[in-house]
Order: sequence, then structure tokens, then C-alpha cells
Amino acid sequence: MHLCLPNTDIRTQRQNNLSQLFWQKDMVAHVLRSEGVTPQRGNMESWKEYRDMRGRSTGLISAEGDEWLKMRSVLRQLVMRPRDVTVFSPDVNAVVDDLVERVKTLRSQQDDRQTVLNINDLFFKYAMEGVATILYETRLGCLENKIPKMSQEYIAALHLMFSSFKTTMYAGAIPKWLRPIIPKPWKEFCSSWDGLFKFSQIHVDKRLSEIKKKMVKGEEIKGGLLTHMLVTREMNLEEIYANMTEMLLAGVDTTSFTLSWSTYLLARHPIIQQEIFEEVDRVLGGRVPTGEDVAHLPLIRGLVKETLRLFPVLPGNGRVTQDDLIIGGYFIPKGTQLALCHYSTSMDEENFPRPGEFRPDRWIRKDASDRVDNFGSIPFGYGIRSCIGRRIAELEMHLALTQLLQKFHIEVSAQTTDVRAKTHGLLCPGVPINLRFVDRK
Ligand code: HEM
Repeated sequence: MHLCLPNTDIRTQRQNNLSQLFWQKDMVAHVLRSEGVTPQRGNMESWKEYRDMRGRSTGLISAEGDEWLKMRSVLRQLVMRPRDVTVFSPDVNAVVDDLVERVKTLRSQQDDRQTVLNINDLFFKYAMEGVATILYETRLGCLENKIPKMSQEYIAALHLMFSSFKTTMYAGAIPKWLRPIIPKPWKEFCSSWDGLFKFSQIHVDKRLSEIKKKMVKGEEIKGGLLTHMLVTREMNLEEIYANMTEMLLAGVDTTSFTLSWSTYLLARHPIIQQEIFEEVDRVLGGRVPTGEDVAHLPLIRGLVKETLRLFPVLPGNGRVTQDDLIIGGYFIPKGTQLALCHYSTSMDEENFPRPGEFRPDRWIRKDASDRVDNFGSIPFGYGIRSCIGRRIAELEMHLALTQLLQKFHIEVSAQTTDVRAKTHGLLCPGVPINLRFVDRK
């Protein structure tokens, strides 16, 4: 049984039956609120099969049951609250500095000296550098003129993984009997995982050997996320490799597409851009922002929320029911795969008046009791299986957008027409977004 509600269905139902419409968001809420202690998102058989074949562990995305719960309990203590990730502000800001320099280099290569072509290519490198800084406690050199070979190989493996997503992840497992006849998808799937695991292992091992050297010398061990995991050993080494691999995979395209859409929306709405800039200027007065400042920049937070409402990078989510449920009058037996469509609920007029409009200020709370209903737009999922990297992604996006606004007026290049979204698993821009970055006086 599939509960997939594309926009067109919603519209048809709105005309026919308003109470039915109200149910859509409530149905999603009902499913998510009914989940047990170890929710299951969907069929991860092909992911598990690869790991069994290579003697690898599962990570947070691919693990289920108690195995998942154990890893989740370790990681949630480290990165789930905004204040846990605020400590990474200086590291992320160092990456933002490189992003700004890269904008300047790229625009200088164009005739008008202001356009950056295909902005997602740049944000992809920023997101990869940013998330690796936090996860691996190291720089990868993605924003340099010449990207190191190892990072280039990782990028190729990541692209291969996303290009094979349609066949391997969304179609569930590739049937084994089909592989001798059509071997390419499974081969590519395995080879991209080989590349992703290899990369993570190199970085984890490097940090481990640095820690061991310090221990031998009797020096104090200081560090971030990876150091903590390696020192406490609440997970074994294979579990650390797997989680570092899956988190890096989950953290790059998601963040970069959202940044691409945010800057595109700002460029398309100069008056709103000016309002957000004025807030930034009023609060920071030109100072470099930190994670703590973000609490005082509601329009920057609204910008990211509104971007994810209009363009939720994961337009849908899944849950396998763990009990029999009755939802919207339907009996749904235990073990049913449900598809929950964020995109539909976030574009529903009942949940967000004038849903097609870009209005970051709709997220500003008038007082402590004022809450925008969170089931209308849940781009990071919900509950104990929600996105573990949410606070990391938000920190990267808030700091980058704030600094870009402080430095540049962002405009749409004449080479960019109306950009529509397309899905290739993730919701991404259908054509390259080219933007002009004009220095602010
Ligand atoms: C704009 C950025 C991002 C968006 C919109 C996003 C969205 C999501 C969503 C919708 C889920 C499924 C949640 C659920 O089933 O309820 C998820 C899971 C996950 N995300 Fe993210 N994500 C983002 C960035 C990141 C980053 C930066 C990381 C890593 C640092 C990350 C790591 C993960 C992991 C490991 C899971 C699986 C969690 C589990 O099963 O326990 N994500 N994400």
C-alpha cells in the first residue's frame, strides 16, 4: 500500500472534499507519532547486501533494530542539539572564508566579472568541505584551484552513487536474478560504495594514528566528533567507518541543493533579500557570525525553512508500519511500506497560505506560544529516526548565507531562466543556476 499524494491529487481533493485535505497532514502526523522505538524507513536490502559481502558494518542510514538504536544513542548525544554544534562555528567559518574567495575567483573568470556559473557545483564543494571539517576534523581542499586527487575520486564515487540511486535505492533491492542479465547497476553500486568507504577509512585511520602517537607521548587528546568516537569506543572501528561514510554521503548534496535554492530565491526576490540583509547588518554590524548569533537572526532561519518548504531536498520519506494502524479510515496492516510526501503537505494552502510564495517571514514566531505547525513541512523528517545531521546542515547553511549576504548582493544572471525542480531521488534544480555576486559597498 502506498500513501503518495502528489500535488495534483491534493488539488483535486480540495475541490471535492475539504475535510479530506485536512487529513493529509494529519495522516503523516498519525504515522510518525505511532512509530515505536526503532522506526524503519524502508527496504535497505541492497545496502545491507553490499556490507555483508565486503564484511562492512551498517551505519545509521542502513542499520535497523537494536543495532541502529545503539549507534543512534551514541551519535545523538554529540550532534543533535544546536548548542552541540555551535562549537564547530570557527571551523565552518574557515570554510566559508574559502567559499567567499572561490566566489571571487570564479566570477573573475567570466566576461562581466560577476557571474558564477552553475552555483551548485560550488555549493557541493562547500558542503563537502564543511561536513568533512566537522566529521573528519580535517580539510579536503575541495575549494582550492586544484582539488587533491583523493577528494576528486571521492566526488566521482559520490556522483556515481547518486546516479545509481533510482535503480538501487528507490526501486528497493535490485533483484538478484536480474543481475547476470543487466549487471551494470549492481556493479556501479558496489564500486561507488567501495570508493566511499575507502575515503572514510583513510581519514578515520589517519586520525586514529595521530591519537595513538599523542597517547604514546602522554599528551592530552583534544578534538571533535571523530576523536570522541575513537577515544570512547562506544562504537567499534567498523561501525565508525560505516557511520562516517553514510553521514558524509547524506550531508553533501542535501546541503548544497538547499543552498543553491536559497541563493536563487534571494536573487529572484531582491526586496526580501534586502530585508534579510538589513536584519544581518543590524544584528552583526559586519561582524563574522557564530552559531550563537543565529538565534538572533530569525529571517536567516526563516530563509532556510522557507527554502526547504518550497524545495524539500528529500521530497518524500518512508516508514514501514510496526503495528496495525487505522489512518484516514483505512486499515493498514503491520509491515506496510508507506510513502509520506513532504512536498505535498508543504505546498498545501491549508497548511501554508499562498503556498507558492516565497515568504521567509512566515516562520517568525510572534510570541512564545506561536508555533507554525511542524507537520506541514518536515524536511528533516520527524522523531527518533529524523535527520541526525540537521544541526550540522543548519550551521553550515546559516553561516554561509549570512556571510554571502554581508559581502554580496546576489542577482540572477541573464543566462538563467526560470529554474524548475526535478527529482533524481533528491529534488534538485532542473537546469544550472547561474548567479551574479556584486560586491556590497
Ligand atoms: C539540508 C540538509 C539535509 C536535509 C534536508 C536532510 C534530510 C533528511 C531526512 C528527511 C532524513 C530522513 C528522516 C526521517 O526518516 O525521519 C534524513 C536522515 C539522515 N540524515 Fe539528513 N538531511 C540533511 C543533511 C544531513 C547532514 C549534513 C548529515 C550528516 C552530517 C545528514 C545525515 C543523515 C543521516 C545519517 C540520516 C539517517 C538517520 C537515521 O536513520 O537514524 N543529513 N535526512
